[in-house]
Amino acid sequence: MKILMVCLGNICRSPIAEGILRQKLKDGGFSHVATDSAGTSAFHVGEAPDRRMRATAKQNGVDIDDLRARQFVPADFDHFDIIYAMDQSNYNNIMSLAQTEDEKDKVKMILNEVNPSSNEAVPDPYYGGDEGFQHVFDLLDEATDVIIEKYVKG
Ligand code: 4NP
Repeated sequence: MKILMVCLGNICRSPIAEGILRQKLKDGGFSHVATDSAGTSAFHVGEAPDRRMRATAKQNGVDIDDLRARQFVPADFDHFDIIYAMDQSNYNNIMSLAQTEDEKDKVKMILNEVNPSSNEAVPDPYYGGDEGFQHVFDLLDEATDVIIEKYVKG
């Protein structure tokens, strides 16, 4: 099982989604599941996660300092079983690259795991204040709990 988290820049939302899930997989001894993250844009390729996101991660016991941004590529459809978009724009961008029904079926809005069919977005914290980063963390903490129960333990 391989799970990919995708946002726009791959420096805020998707790296923390990856980091939280990675921590829970490690803590639970779930070595059969792999996780990664990517951005639909190439704006920040090669960069570490945003300093504010790294600080919020550490305050919550998660270390994402080692992660580096990369762009989503069509080959990701082959490598991953589930591809989570953080918002509708990410979802549309990923879907526009999908070529088969099988590929389209892999793409999901991550907060739909918490509130099915709601299509709620994980808000982009990049241009806002520090509190936005904790809010993103809390939303993804909840979503990754559901992912563990539904796909990892199940
Ligand atoms: P992310 O946040 O998609 O959660 O990584 C953003 C980071 C950078 C930009 C936009 C969103 N940007 O426009 O540079």
